[in-house]
Order: sequence, then structure tokens, then C-alpha cells
Amino acid sequence: MDQYAPYSDSRETCLVRGKSGIIYPGVRVENISYPLTITSIQAAVCSCLANGDTPESYSITNGSQRPELLSFWTATFSMEERASYGSEEPRFNPLISIESNIGGELTDLCSKAVTIHSGFPVSSLLKVADGYIPGANVEVEAWALGLCAERVSISRAIAAGYTEFESIHVHAPKSDFSSPCGACRQVLNEFMPTGVVEMHHGDGSLSKHITSHLLPHGFISEELTRKI
Ligand code: THU
Repeated sequence: MDQYAPYSDSRETCLVRGKSGIIYPGVRVENISYPLTITSIQAAVCSCLANGDTPESYSITNGSQRPELLSFWTATFSMEERASYGSEEPRFNPLISIESNIGGELTDLCSKAVTIHSGFPVSSLLKVADGYIPGANVEVEAWALGLCAERVSISRAIAAGYTEFESIHVHAPKSDFSSPCGACRQVLNEFMPTGVVEMHHGDGSLSKHITSHLLPHGFISEELTRKI
């Protein structure tokens, strides 16, 4: 379970077990704009929810999480803490292979979206060397702590050990134009500035854009260059 903490070098990983018995890994995913950092329990819970599962217990495997932030998740989902999980317990493997029908897969994935506030599903497929990492948007009680579909894909991919991303497909069936939000553009630009964002629009049309072109004059500073 890798993490992405090149700015702080802090250690933060988490496992969440869903009611299904599957264990979902989550790791810290930092961003050069620090407030956009995804915490490991946020990543693990959102991965679980975006798989149609319900978080039941958690284990902090490498703990530097703020306890007050941890308690939002544990209280919201009544999760019990476990010292560890057995190595024989099944781990979530996000990787899927798709031969041809990306559009159909994006449509199916929308059923995994958890949209308790908006009723606005979004799905994503992040292309990695061996296949695709799916994502769907997850809303939780605290609006600011849910994750967009794109960031569910990215955080699952990092936890699964992937660091190289070619492209991401995004689909929002209820919008005319399926365009990643500003925060997702910032996060995508951290990992795949020269990659391609493929937007599958509600009317069935497709547009492709280089990630960095979607974030002109993006935030950079040599003061904050990655330390590792
Ligand atoms: N959303 C995404 O999943 N991706 C984006 O790029 C834009 C917004 C989701 C987040 C929230 O669940 C809903 O759309 C409304 O903002």
C-alpha cells in the first residue's frame, strides 16, 4: 500500500472493512495545494462506499491522522477500530479491464455513485498500465469531505501502487458538458499534467483535453517542489 506524501513525508495509511467482508485500503494523497490533500480514512471509506459497500470497521496501519478528523468518519458510519485484519481477508482490487465499451462501463458505474445531497452521479475510469481504475462520486453528511469521481479513481490507484496515468474518462449523465471541477483539475494536474481528460458528455459526444490545458497558469512554486 503506497502513499503519496512528497510534501510532508508523513506516514498515513488505513484499512476499512465493509459489511461485505472486503477490505478497502486508503492512503494519504497530498497535493501541492495542501488543503486538497485526501486523508487515508477518507480515501478508504469513499472507496468502500463507491463499491456499493458500507464501512463497518477500520484499522489505522500507519497513524498520523488527526483524531478529530478520524472521529467524523468513525462516528458517521459507527465504525469500530480493529488492531489489524488477517492477511487471508479479501482485499479490494479496483483494477478492471475493458475491451471496447468505455461508454457503457461509465454508464454502469454511475449506479455506484452515492449522491445523497445532489442526486447528480458522475463516473470515471482512470487508465493505468494494466487496465482501468473506476470511480464514482461519493457524498457524505459533511459536504466538504466527500470525493468527486475523479478523486475516487486517483486515490484508489495510488493505494493500489500506480503512479503513472495516461488518461481519465469522465461522465456526468445529467450534465450537458461533463467537465471536471477545479479541485479535480488541480489533483489531476499533480499526477498526469501531460495526460488526457476524455469528457463523455450527456448527449453522447466526446471531447479530449490535455490536463494542463484545463488549468492555465496553475499553482506551482519551487518552494513546494516534491521532496521525494
Ligand atoms: N462531481 C464529480 O464527481 N466530479 C466533478 O468533477 C464535478 C463534481 C460531483 C461531486 C458531487 O457529488 C456532485 O458532483 C455535485 O457537485
